[in-house]
Amino acid sequence: MGLRRSHFDDFLAPDTSLPDWVEVISENFMDYGGKPQRVLEHLKKKNIPIISHGVGLSIGSLDSLETDYSKYLERFLSDYKCPWFSDHLCFSSTNTHQFHDLLPVLRTEESLAEIVTKITAIEKKFKTPFAFENISFYGESSLNTMDEVDFINKILDQTNSYLLFDINNIFVNYKNHGIDPQKYIDQLNTDKVIQIHLAGHWDRGDIIIDTHGDHVTDEVWELYKYFIKKMKREVSTLIEWDNDIPDYEVLLFETLKAKEVARSVL
Ligand SMILES: [Fe+2]
Repeated sequence: MGLRRSHFDDFLAPDTSLPDWVEVISENFMDYGGKPQRVLEHLKKKNIPIISHGVGLSIGSLDSLETDYSKYLERFLSDYKCPWFSDHLCFSSTNTHQFHDLLPVLRTEESLAEIVTKITAIEKKFKTPFAFENISFYGESSLNTMDEVDFINKILDQTNSYLLFDINNIFVNYKNHGIDPQKYIDQLNTDKVIQIHLAGHWDRGDIIIDTHGDHVTDEVWELYKYFIKKMKREVSTLIEWDNDIPDYEVLLFETLKAKEVARSVL
């Protein structure tokens, strides 16, 4: 379950039923103190694993990793002994300018080589296992020479990284760009999938927006079942809910549903 500010009091309440593990947006907790730190320390004491999920590492850019950001991240990973940490297959900075979006990388041989170099440097710098996540995107470059699934498989082959597989993102991309999600799953190297994201989206009619602001749709649950059938094992699954965040119990229920659905398939 994601650790969100509006649920801090629920996490701290003595009679709360806690999830198996939590994922935190690293940037919201890195230079921590006060209540966020109190909640993290509480979960640590309860032996609830804490997974760090960031948006600022920018694995698709050539920017240096020698930044204050990396120092904060390293400290966070070490303080909370995160079993793994993740960020997105995107770029969110260039020439040290930070954007507020996760922008899609080019899928070419040249870009592949640069990303493999960057991920290898990340693996060397941070001692914690690293996973990258497939993103939803709203534009496709005509310069791309590879399908996304081939590109991801190649990164997995050439690095020691893992994949955080976002099933809602491939559904959103399917609706917006016509990428067949079942074919994608059939072709994906699933051996290195360490975590799954599910989320709600908004179907505007002409385009689907990856809002993380609603329940997971039936179509995405069906795709999750399809994926678990292929995996033949349970995978740590998180419901991403970042806008119009519901009550703690509603989110916990949705999270437990993921576990039930996976077990029913297996
Ligand atoms: Fe995600």
